[in-house]
Amino acid sequence: MFAGKRIILGVTGGIAAYKAAYLLREFQKAGAEVRVTMTPSATRFVGTETFAALSRNEVAVEVFNNENPGKNWTKHIQWGDWADLFVIAPCTANTLSKIVQGQSDNMLTSTVLAARCPLLICPTMDGEMYESSSVTENLQRAKAQGHYILEPTEGYLASGLEAKGRLPEPEEILKKAQDIIKKHRIKGPLTGKKVVVSAGPTREFFDPVRYISNPSSGKMGLAMAEAARLSGADVTLLHGPISLEIPDRIPRKSFVSADDLFNLIKENSDADVIIMAAAVSDFKAASVEKQKIKKENGSNELKLTRNPDILEWLGNQKKEGQILIGFAMETENLKENAQKKIKKKNLDWICANDLSGEDSGFESDKNTILLLGTDSEQTFSGSKNQIAKEILERIFGKG
Ligand code: C5P
Repeated sequence: MFAGKRIILGVTGGIAAYKAAYLLREFQKAGAEVRVTMTPSATRFVGTETFAALSRNEVAVEVFNNENPGKNWTKHIQWGDWADLFVIAPCTANTLSKIVQGQSDNMLTSTVLAARCPLLICPTMDGEMYESSSVTENLQRAKAQGHYILEPTEGYLASGLEAKGRLPEPEEILKKAQDIIKKHRIKGPLTGKKVVVSAGPTREFFDPVRYISNPSSGKMGLAMAEAARLSGADVTLLHGPISLEIPDRIPRKSFVSADDLFNLIKENSDADVIIMAAAVSDFKAASVEKQKIKKENGSNELKLTRNPDILEWLGNQKKEGQILIGFAMETENLKENAQKKIKKKNLDWICANDLSGEDSGFESDKNTILLLGTDSEQTFSGSKNQIAKEILERIFGKG
């Protein structure tokens, strides 16, 4: 239900804070990656360690890093960019009031302001508090600000009273969360489609400190991933060792060698669209030395062996309706070589890249690509971001 989705769970200082631990588990079981932010008073009810252990992530409470001042104090911005949904459960009257006023006095409230994603508030408190005119007004204001509210349920409260103020059951919260995510999906030709993009070089180590690689920067692959995301896709970027900063909003996994990438591709071979923009090394060392090879006793020959052709493997077992897009880097006979690769690897499209061209290729921000389908061709030229958008529009339409 939440595969590949990223959720920030905000926990505030009410007795129902302990229930947030169960909620976190339910989100995880449904496939979500969850990060937790707590208000300082929530930590009086449940320890940060509980949520850190369950979420396998640090739990953020304060914006400022007291142990290491000045370091990583923009986490609220990064988290706000990272998430698909922010759920505050339980949400106290105090935090609700801060949210509607735009206060940002701790990590949770600062992240609410920084978040680009929708916010679901689960107000949970004593019945009298919930019925108070201030809370009623604040809930109306929160709705008017575009936030979602899941009303509390009636029942036995910590005060011993029976009233409306209980945190709804996890299933109900998950259902509401799912509806919100669906509603906020970017609408485009790839909405709801799983798209996997590989980018960057591979490194084939032949001793602990040396490897065979290439100068791929990963720029074209990253541009394809972002263009697919903006077309509505659920994107995962698989990237090799690159120095580019990948925006937090793009889910990613890293690889080093072609074999690592092959494993990641096998795990994701059910994707609707696979775009192989990675510059995969065709060769690797026949054997990897455990210790650094000494120039005094090393031989000057390196024995190589072939890497698996990942794209060809994908082409051989292409599932019904799956679209495979390859890249071809050539220094001569661009079109002929690319045409051969479409057939050999059973591709739907290939982006042929003439490395000899000015302002194109590995590290440049610009590129010229000849897009070949099984019976069509078109050339795209310009910034890698622009080309990526145009290529996807050509293949999948504008939606
Ligand atoms: O045959 P060639 O290496 O030129 O094909 C390039 C395309 O094949 C690219 O899309 C690249 O990501 C992919 N490739 C691969 N496995 C390899 C080599 C290339 O998937 N071992």
